[in-house]
Amino acid sequence: MRIKVLTLFPEMFAPLSASILGRAEKAGLLSVETLDIRAFTNDKHRRCDDYPFGGGPGMVMTAQPLHDAFLSATRGFAARRVLLSPKGRTLTQRRAMELAKEEGLILLCGHYEGVDQRAIDLWVDEEISIGDYVLTGGELAAMVLIDALARHVPGVLGDETSAAEESFMEGLLEYPQYTRPAEFLGLRAPEELLSGAHKKIEAWRREKMLTETRERRPDLFEKLELSADDRVLLGLEERKPRRRRSQNRERDEK
Ligand SMILES: C[S@@+](CC[C@H](N)C(=O)[O-])C[C@H]1O[C@@H](n2cnc3c(N)ncnc32)[C@H](O)[C@@H]1O
Repeated sequence: MRIKVLTLFPEMFAPLSASILGRAEKAGLLSVETLDIRAFTNDKHRRCDDYPFGGGPGMVMTAQPLHDAFLSATRGFAARRVLLSPKGRTLTQRRAMELAKEEGLILLCGHYEGVDQRAIDLWVDEEISIGDYVLTGGELAAMVLIDALARHVPGVLGDETSAAEESFMEGLLEYPQYTRPAEFLGLRAPEELLSGAHKKIEAWRREKMLTETRERRPDLFEKLELSADDRVLLGLEERKPRRRRSQNRERDEK
């Protein structure tokens, strides 16, 4: 996957070359290229912002450098164009997974009071917010988006299953995790996880996913369609006694 980022502060993207994302870039699974918007301004003082029409506080990013930066970024590169904005649709795991399927993305990072609406109208396909709060610029939001979607690009996480089992994947939060030692400061890891019994571990994890989601995110829990097994794990239903084979045969013969 190839991502181009239009920003006034390309140096802010240095953290992306560390850890899993850095390895993904080296392996050729992900490429993140920053384009400095200031390089596209026609202003003799290299300005990329101006006072808002109608007055008000702060400055607005001007349309011309953004237009030229998009013209350059899209040359020979068909990509979905996203503006990071507090007014956008809030980023979810589902949207991150969908965006991970795009071949190319261009992310525009706003700054100051925002972006001249004409640049948005001319170029932006979609606006994404990373939450209901206001950041000083779109750079951190772009990095959050890149990190969230890169985890769904095949090969980026060493173990393909690890993204599939995480929080939000089935509308559930993840179960608690433990590692060695089995006992720490007198606190013992749950016996089910130490038992080595696959079915017991699965049932314990499923129960924790359900109870943690119910406690922490009732909004997500309400949307779940609980299976009969889930209802038993939550104590909402009793497990139906298993019919013995001979009983089934008797029933079938009737
Ligand atoms: C100070 S903010 C502008 C806020 C704008 N005046 C408003 O009230 O909606 C500057 C830039 O930071 C980015 N930004 C701020 N909060 C964000 C959020 N929650 N999600 C994504 N981007 C955000 C956007 O690119 C925005 O253009």
